[in-house]
Amino acid sequence: MSSTEFRNALGAFTTGVCLITVNDGESGSLALTANSFSSLSLDPPLVLWNIQNDSDCFREYTECAHFGISILCADQQALSGCYARKDNHRIVEDDFLSDSYGAPLLKRAVARFSCKLVQLVEAGDHHIVIGEVMAFDAHDESPLLFSRGSYDQLASRTD
Ligand SMILES: Cc1cc2nc3c(=O)[nH]c(=O)nc-3n(C[C@H](O)[C@H](O)[C@H](O)COP(=O)(O)O)c2cc1C
Repeated sequence: MSSTEFRNALGAFTTGVCLITVNDGESGSLALTANSFSSLSLDPPLVLWNIQNDSDCFREYTECAHFGISILCADQQALSGCYARKDNHRIVEDDFLSDSYGAPLLKRAVARFSCKLVQLVEAGDHHIVIGEVMAFDAHDESPLLFSRGSYDQLASRTD
């Protein structure tokens, strides 16, 4: 199997983009760009995302008690690029607030979730991080999209 073709086929699945955030005792407040976010369960309320096993932030994101998820707005591509860079996960405090559990959340986002880490599943070269949603909010903003390796946005809204 060609890994490039496999990657390209996976990239045909258009997603949103989010920042996964954590407040670590040693490393401080971090954000990491991810598009592997998915809903998992309504009752109990569970969501998931996947972290690369070789991420420099693997410990911080897999040993935390709580983490945050901020779904990016269409005009927040620069934030996505910023926190997708290696060695660049320390947050710019001005853009974030802290949730009730100390995890950073973007001040402005399409939706925000405060999560308690409840399960880690080892799966190939990633771990699936499952979070129970403790609090959330959602706003009438257009989302940033990621499709075939590029950013995009909705052409029109039907609501
Ligand atoms: C649109 C986009 C989506 C990404 N999704 C994920 C993801 O779901 N999980 C992940 O571990 N890294 C993801 N990455 C990569 C990280 O954002 C980042 O590049 C990587 O963590 C850098 O390596 P480091 O963790 O060792 O610093 C994504 C990057 C981009 C640009």
